[in-house]
Amino acid sequence: MTRQPERPGAQQWVPPEGDVSALRAAAPGCRGCELWAPATQVVFSSGDPDAPLVLVGEQPGDKEDREGAPFVGPAGRLLDEALEAAETSRSEVYLTNAVKHFRFEERGPRRIHKTPAVGHIRACLPWLTAELAAVEPRVVVALGGTATQAVLGRDESVTSLRGRLLEPPDAPLRTLVTVHPSSVLRVRGSAERAAALDGLVADLRIAVAAAR
Ligand code: URA
Ligand code: SF4
Repeated sequence: MTRQPERPGAQQWVPPEGDVSALRAAAPGCRGCELWAPATQVVFSSGDPDAPLVLVGEQPGDKEDREGAPFVGPAGRLLDEALEAAETSRSEVYLTNAVKHFRFEERGPRRIHKTPAVGHIRACLPWLTAELAAVEPRVVVALGGTATQAVLGRDESVTSLRGRLLEPPDAPLRTLVTVHPSSVLRVRGSAERAAALDGLVADLRIAVAAAR
């Protein structure tokens, strides 16, 4: 039987009432779960700390882990494309992840992405909560299942929730759930992939309009 690792959670490393730069400065010290150890570095947020729109991804990937910035790999390129089509851009939003360290499995020389467990999402949540308190966005976009779990605090299907604004008390903050950009990249067939991208763009447009 594999034993569950002890996870103290991030709370004791999160500076109380810190603004985004104070949070960013403290994040490298976090030992809230075991994911910090094999990772290269913490990956905090990017974008505008006063943005009306916050986008939440899953966790850094291989490239993000090496570079120390969110969404700098293939999923990030697709996200940029979708943001542009929705008439906004990365610099106009605040972009972060539900989990701040890359979870992976080593297979030979390759590091394979491993979806964070509910325990990792829970352990890392104090960072996201503090970011949302500091930024005070009008709308939060949850990109995919991990972000949805983090933002809503419950496990719900992205497919059933996507594309409509959830207002309190259905969500702690006004939230729009949509798919993760990586899921668009995984769609086979160029017509099908284009349709999946259109779906993501349509959802982002709703969030952009609601954040104005
Ligand atoms: N996928 C994510 O969810 N976040 C990143 O930063 C990169 C890929
Ligand atoms: Fe802390 Fe989150 Fe990294 Fe775990 S994943 S060590 S909780 S910052």
